[in-house]
Amino acid sequence: MSFHVVETFYESHLGELKQRTLKALSRENLDGMIVHSGQLAYHFLDDNAYPFKVNPHFKAWLPVLDNPNSWLVIEGTGKPKLIFYSPVDFWHKVPEKPNAGWCEYFDIVFLEKAEKVEKYLPYDRENYAYIGEHVEVAKALGFKYINPEGLLHFIHYYRAYKTDYELACMREANKIAIKAHKEAVNVFYKKGAELDIHHAYVAATKMNQEHLPYNNIVALNENASILHYMVQEHLPPARHLSFLIDAGASFHGYAADITRTYSMSDGLFADIIKQVDHLIQRLGAAIQPGLSYVEVHEQAHVGIAQILYESGIVSLLPENIVDTGISKTFFPHGIGHYLGLQVHDVGAHLADDSGTSIPPVERHPFLRCSRIIEPRQVFTIEPGLYFIDSLLAELKASENTKYINWQLIDDLVPYGGVRIEDNVIVHEDKAENMTRELWSSQ
Ligand code: GLY
Ligand code: MN
Ligand code: MN
Repeated sequence: MSFHVVETFYESHLGELKQRTLKALSRENLDGMIVHSGQLAYHFLDDNAYPFKVNPHFKAWLPVLDNPNSWLVIEGTGKPKLIFYSPVDFWHKVPEKPNAGWCEYFDIVFLEKAEKVEKYLPYDRENYAYIGEHVEVAKALGFKYINPEGLLHFIHYYRAYKTDYELACMREANKIAIKAHKEAVNVFYKKGAELDIHHAYVAATKMNQEHLPYNNIVALNENASILHYMVQEHLPPARHLSFLIDAGASFHGYAADITRTYSMSDGLFADIIKQVDHLIQRLGAAIQPGLSYVEVHEQAHVGIAQILYESGIVSLLPENIVDTGISKTFFPHGIGHYLGLQVHDVGAHLADDSGTSIPPVERHPFLRCSRIIEPRQVFTIEPGLYFIDSLLAELKASENTKYINWQLIDDLVPYGGVRIEDNVIVHEDKAENMTRELWSSQ
């Protein structure tokens, strides 16, 4: 994998992380933090392991994603110490000893036996925090501060402001995902099965499926109405009407999260796709520092309501479609979320670095972000318009049923729904829709 991004921006990224850590440690009266990459987890009564998912606090510091039992000792000054697991093992591939550009910024020691890590940890670690998933390991090693809230709040709050390195990584992740999206849609037009499309996507990323940031959603026809549809039918359907693909990629541990929807033929569903596409572009263009993410969500509802009105699905004015709650039947999820080391990145409900939370707005319980928009934040915008059986049944049973053109809905149900999702970087003076800007060049 290319290391050009790291070469350009990595040093200043590390500098920023160290500064944040220094402030956090001083506020929390800690001497340092010790970050555990994680451990393999095994299937019940089995010697097969689940795919290893590295602790996001570990991959924030360096692009080592595949090495359990590794550790970082960080004090905020000087070089962090990397305890790199390097066992003697003839059964498994042992991660290669690193020699990439980032190595010069760490003091690296090699750990042959996972259980011997203690000899590399600070001897007097009473005042160090353990950051990781394995509380029992931390206790056995004598840590008193295990994932202390104050420290995590501080780190999570500032993680919303991406460094140039992180922005560059996410643009790279977008490029990989875009290429794969283009391969995937070809298989839809050739009338492949969901599983064929999925395989084409994964092959085009040149990544192993387990290294994708989330399970692909590859949905044909009515399956597109299932918001988190993770099944992949291995047989093609009798007819190919529509195709929704929500699939990402990773670069150095940073995620892309992109959705596109296609129609096999022209008609009302194809028109709705175009309208949702216009909507997402309008929403993206209106993003600016100072705006609340809740406002973006509410603007999206107005946009969806306009589509419902103009397509003749709902015979109420757009503002009334929103006021009556009808737009929620068709757009039941949030407009998006922070994106970064995690697909649904942290810090989206934090008002400050001490952990004061901005509770999710009551009228939009599924909105994953309640924070004010500021430069260096990265988030998704993902408006959708779906025909979901259970929600439509509720609408039909309500007094609002009289505003709905049920014949049109019956025609549209077999298409499932539309979602379009782009990844946006906020700058001082504009929003960079990196998915759109990179789409044509990939
Ligand atoms: N792919 C998950 C999401 O869009 O949030
Ligand atoms: Mn998303
Ligand atoms: Mn998505």
